[in-house]
Amino acid sequence: MPTRVIKAGDVYRIEGPAKVIVKRGHIYATGVIYGEGQSFTVLRARRLVIKAISDSEVEFILGPGALLEKAMPGEEVIEEWERRISNLNPRGAILIIGMTDVGKSTMAAMLGNKALLHGYKVAIIDADVGQNDLGPPTTVSIARLTKYITHLRQLIAEKSIFLQSTSLERIWPRAVEQIAKAVEYAKNKWSVDTIIINTDGWVLDEEAVVFKRRLIEKIKPTHIVAIQVEKELMPILDGYTNTTILPPPPHVRTRSREDRKIHREMGYGRYIFPPVEIAFSLDKTPLCNLPLFKGIELSEDLRRMLMRATGVSITRAFQVGDRVYALVHGTTWAVKRVGRFQVICLPQEFEKGLLVGLEDREGFLVSLGVLKKIYYDKRKAIVYTSSDVEKRIGEVKCIRLGFVRLDENFNEIERVTNLLKAEEIHNISQI
Ligand SMILES: Nc1ncnc2c1ncn2[C@@H]1O[C@H](COP(=O)(O)OP(=O)(O)OP(=O)(O)O)[C@@H](O)[C@H]1O
Ligand SMILES: [Mg+2]
Repeated sequence: MPTRVIKAGDVYRIEGPAKVIVKRGHIYATGVIYGEGQSFTVLRARRLVIKAISDSEVEFILGPGALLEKAMPGEEVIEEWERRISNLNPRGAILIIGMTDVGKSTMAAMLGNKALLHGYKVAIIDADVGQNDLGPPTTVSIARLTKYITHLRQLIAEKSIFLQSTSLERIWPRAVEQIAKAVEYAKNKWSVDTIIINTDGWVLDEEAVVFKRRLIEKIKPTHIVAIQVEKELMPILDGYTNTTILPPPPHVRTRSREDRKIHREMGYGRYIFPPVEIAFSLDKTPLCNLPLFKGIELSEDLRRMLMRATGVSITRAFQVGDRVYALVHGTTWAVKRVGRFQVICLPQEFEKGLLVGLEDREGFLVSLGVLKKIYYDKRKAIVYTSSDVEKRIGEVKCIRLGFVRLDENFNEIERVTNLLKAEEIHNISQI
C-alpha cells in the first residue's frame, strides 16, 4: 500500500479494521507517540483519532469497510484530552464515568498507556456490565496492562466476577462490593501502582446517581475522569474536587440498543465456547444465591397442606428456616404468607435458560454458563458451559443464578426480575 505524507498537526479519524505503520516521523494515538518503524491497529467497527506530531510518512493498511478521513482543525477533542490528561499523575485509582458512547473505554486505554509511560505497574478494571471490553458481559473484569494498546479489547481478562445482569439497576449494592473487591485484588495480588476503573453508562436516573456516589465513597479514587455531554454528571460529581471533566469526541461511532444486545449475545457465545453440558451435583456445588437444596424437602402431607393454604399447585417444596421455596405448576411467580412461613413460589421451569456464573472459592468466575434444567430427584443441575470448565471442575464451588434468560442461540430473551425478588428475600432474611 502506498504511504501517505501527513503534516505536523494534522488529525485523522480512522475506522477499523486498519493497521497504521509509521515509516517516518511521529504519530500520536491513545496517549502514546509512535515513532519510525512502530505500528498500531484500529479494530473493526471502532474509531480512533490520530495526530501527526512531526511531518510524517505513514502506511495505512485498511481492511474491509475501513475508513480514513482528515479532521477539520479544532474539530476533534484529541488535543484537549491529551493536554488535560497530561496534567494528571496517573497513579493510584482512577475512576472513569460517563454515559454510553462517550469514549470511556478509549479514555481507559489512554490513561493506562500514560501510566505505562510513567513506568508504573498498571491494572485495568472494566466494570461496564453491558459492554465489557476485557471479559464477558455481566462481569467486572480485570487485566494487567504491559504494552501500549489502542483499544481496551486488546486485553484479556485475567480475573472476572459475575455481576448477574447486563444492567446494574436494582442490583448495584452487590456491584459496589464486587468492584471494590476487584480493586483490592489488583492492589494486593499484583501490587500495581495504577488502577484504571471503567464503569457502565448508567448515570442518568436518581438510583444511578446513588450507585455511582456509593462506588466513589467505597473505592475512594485518587482521581475521577468524567466525560460529560452536557451537565448530566453533575449530581454524581457534586462535592468532589479530584475530578477532570472532559467533553466527548464529536464523531463517536454510536451503537444502538439493538447493536449492544447483539454485541453481548456474541460475547456469551464467545465465552461459552467450545460448549459442553456438565451435570453438577447441587449438594456438592450448590446454587450460591438461592438455598433450594439447603433446606429439608417437605413431606407429601405438608406439601398438601401448603397447597390448600396457598391455593397453588405445588410439585415440591423445600423449607429453609421460616421460608419455603415451592416449585409450582404454571408460570406465575409469587410470594405468599402462611402463618409464620414465607412461601416463595417458583414456576416449575424458572431455571431454564438462566445465565449463571460458575464461581470459585473466592467468588471469582471460573466460567459463564447457561442453566438448562434442574433435576430435583437427582439433585442435579445441567449447565451448558465452556469445555474449559471440565479441566477446572474442582475449582467450581457454587453456581450463581443470573437475572438474564437466554435462548439456545444466546439471544437475551428476558430480564428475570422475579428471581431478583426471590433473591432479595433470601438476602434480607440472611441479614
Ligand atoms: N476521538 C474519537 N473520535 C471518534 N471516535 C472515537 C473517538 N474516541 C472513541 N471513538 C469511538 O467511539 C466509539 C465509542 O467509544 P468508546 O467505546 O471508547 O466509548 P464508551 O463510552 O466506552 O462506549 P460504551 O458505552 O459502548 O462502552 C468507539 O467506536 C470508539 O472507537
Ligand atoms: Mg466502553
